[in-house]
Amino acid sequence: MCGIVGYIGKRQAYPILVGGLHRLEYRGYDSAGVALLSDKGELNVYKAKGKVAELELVASEKDCSGTMGVAHTRWATHGEPSTKNAHPHVSESGNLTLVHNGIIENYVVLRDQLKARGYHFQSDTDTEVLVQLIEYVEQSLGLSLEAAVQTALKRVIGAYAIVVLDRRSPNRLVAARKSSPMVVGIGEGNEEFFVASDASPIAEYTKKMVYLNDEEIVVCERGHELRVCTLDNKDVPVEVKNVELDLTMLDKGGYPHFMLKEIFDQPSVLQDCMRGRLLPEHGRVVLSALTDHRERLVSARRIVIVSCGTSWHAGLIGKQLIEHFCKVPVEVEYASEFRYREPVILPDDVVMAISQSGETADTLAAIELAREAGAFVFGVVNAVGSSIARNTHTGTYIHVGPEIGVASTKAFTGQVCVLTMLALALGEARGTVDAAEYRAVVEELQQIPAKIEHILEQNSRIETLSKIFTYAHNFLYLGRGWNYPVALEGALKLKEISYIHAEGYPAAEMKHGPIALIDQEMPVVFIATHHQQYEKIISNMQEVKSRNGRIIAVITEGDEVVKKMVSEYIEVPETLSCLAPLLSVIPLQLLAYHIAVQKGLNVDMPRNLAKSVTVE
Ligand code: M6R
Repeated sequence: MCGIVGYIGKRQAYPILVGGLHRLEYRGYDSAGVALLSDKGELNVYKAKGKVAELELVASEKDCSGTMGVAHTRWATHGEPSTKNAHPHVSESGNLTLVHNGIIENYVVLRDQLKARGYHFQSDTDTEVLVQLIEYVEQSLGLSLEAAVQTALKRVIGAYAIVVLDRRSPNRLVAARKSSPMVVGIGEGNEEFFVASDASPIAEYTKKMVYLNDEEIVVCERGHELRVCTLDNKDVPVEVKNVELDLTMLDKGGYPHFMLKEIFDQPSVLQDCMRGRLLPEHGRVVLSALTDHRERLVSARRIVIVSCGTSWHAGLIGKQLIEHFCKVPVEVEYASEFRYREPVILPDDVVMAISQSGETADTLAAIELAREAGAFVFGVVNAVGSSIARNTHTGTYIHVGPEIGVASTKAFTGQVCVLTMLALALGEARGTVDAAEYRAVVEELQQIPAKIEHILEQNSRIETLSKIFTYAHNFLYLGRGWNYPVALEGALKLKEISYIHAEGYPAAEMKHGPIALIDQEMPVVFIATHHQQYEKIISNMQEVKSRNGRIIAVITEGDEVVKKMVSEYIEVPETLSCLAPLLSVIPLQLLAYHIAVQKGLNVDMPRNLAKSVTVE
């Protein structure tokens, strides 16, 4: 969480930094700040509680000159959202200023030691300890800035991505990372450098980017080659990547919210996801990861999926797909539980990490554990060049473009699409998939974008429907088989952005407890498409109806049985059972969106959440 940006070069830094913060605001948005080394050599620090727009107001009448600076948008961990806790933090002498993303776990001990040496603390943050510690080390040992950063970071336990600016040193910025993402952009002739939490603030200025690895520090000095080194000051070869980002994906493109745009992006981004992999002319799926690591993947005795949140829901669908097509046992684990519970990992396991951001701290830790145990690790990731993408042995990008709305939508369908292609390709390689079924799924997958388009045409109908339900304080979502994870995902979408408590359940479990909740106040969303156990779902609906529950049903087009039973329904086109989630989730995304909008909430930046959960 938290977004950081740094700039040093020839241009005015402020517009670059603030523009970058807007791009990174999905990472945290409870306060923001900027530090600039002015044209007169003064260090100007401006901060505000709230969103980046508040910071811009504060800065609007101030001196924002300078060609070097650092900036931050915060998701609070230590200390409430407030101006004093906002970054950048400044050292005792006023020479150093620093922005940080991560958590310093031993900050209390370090702070007490620094206080005993006369350092004063203005904030409640763990971050302030870092800037004071770097200054202490620099002054007491007479070190250069980068040596002080190296020495200080060796004393730190926790996660960090930091950028440090020294007002006495107007030609250099020093940055470092461990377990929090950081990328450096290199401008023309090494005359300017950009540092950020991801590529989005940098992409409009340069394509040449360097992703830092854990415990590396980088020195960005005007007119010099970028230097990357370890905390022990050993030089690390600089690997420059050519990163292309579709900048149109980074704005709302005329939609009122990123979330709505991303829901409507799904038909086209799923085409991108399948492009070059699902080959209609050959009626086949070809994934390079599978071609390159065929033996290792085909011989897997078990697949363990690790992920969090929406990606975990995609994992539940992945389990059904892989078990169905590949006949390999699959376990789906919350990465946060897996990493701490001494899981039995065998060398012939494949551990599959699913993550939109590629930066989720728990998923990264689960990967590390799996690698240490000798498992082969496969990534299903959206963010190109992210930590998970780099820490896995191989993988498949979902290629749905940057997802900005905090509530994941297109990344979910992209993940399910990749998992479907993977299950088909692996099933073919293992000889476990029925040839006719394989062909049918390949053919039907190609129809999915058009079918989603068709569902999206019902947007205004769903908007009207949503108005009925803004009164609700609780929702139940019920589905079975392929649609059970969709029930979980629908419930998560609603609670994230509308703050309505929602639970997803396998429909048959209703009788084992949740049925006690049903009364005329309780909306129950049934995902009742024409697939497995359809008749049983209809019985569950009758049970809710006879207790006066308010049903909203997602049904297959033309299902007259359900239409006669309930007044609120949303139709989705017919498809194969294994592809049902790709369609049935779309109305639930729209329903959650419209309920949140009706309630006047900020759907793109819901309270307390951040897009990329880089702390555990
Ligand atoms: O980036 P990841 O897919 O690893 O993120 C995992 C979860 O934090 C994420 O899916 C979260 O649950 C979303 N806000 C869901 O909409």
